[in-house]
Amino acid sequence: MKIGICNDHAGVEYKQKLTKYLKGKGHEVVNFGTDSTDSCDYSDFAHPLAYAVERGEVELGIAICGTGNGMAMTLNKHQGIRAGLAWNTAVAHLVAEHNAANVLVVPARFASYRMVVSMVREWLQTDFAGGRHQRRIDKIPL
Ligand code: RB5
Repeated sequence: MKIGICNDHAGVEYKQKLTKYLKGKGHEVVNFGTDSTDSCDYSDFAHPLAYAVERGEVELGIAICGTGNGMAMTLNKHQGIRAGLAWNTAVAHLVAEHNAANVLVVPARFASYRMVVSMVREWLQTDFAGGRHQRRIDKIPL
C-alpha cells in the first residue's frame, strides 16, 4: 500500500520510526514532512497530505502532532478527507470499521510509540463495516 505521512515538530521521532516499520511491512511511504524538530505549524504539512489523498496519489494517510487535534482539524477541512483521531487500539479499530477514516491521526505527546504502532496496525487491517455507517458518513459533507 502507498501511505502518506505528515507531522509537525512533535511528531518527527514517531514519523521516522513508523516509516521504518511500515517499509519493513512492505508498504511504500511518502513523506510530507517535517523532518525538523524546530517549531513549525502543523497545517503546513496537513494540507499537502490531504491533497495527495484526495488526488489518489497515496491510498491512505497518517498524521502526527502533539495532541493530534491540529492535524485532525486541518485535514477535515478537505471534502475528500475523513481524518480520525485515535488514542488507543480499540479507537483505531472503530475509526476504520465505523468511520472509514482515510487518514489516521495520532497524538505523539499522549501515546507511547508502542501504542502508535498498535493503532496503525489495527487501522490498516480493519475493514469498513458499511451499512448504517455508510449512511452516516454520507451525511458528513456539507
Ligand atoms: C505543538 O506545540 C502542538 O501545538 C501541536 O503539535 C499540536 O498538539 C496541535 O494540535
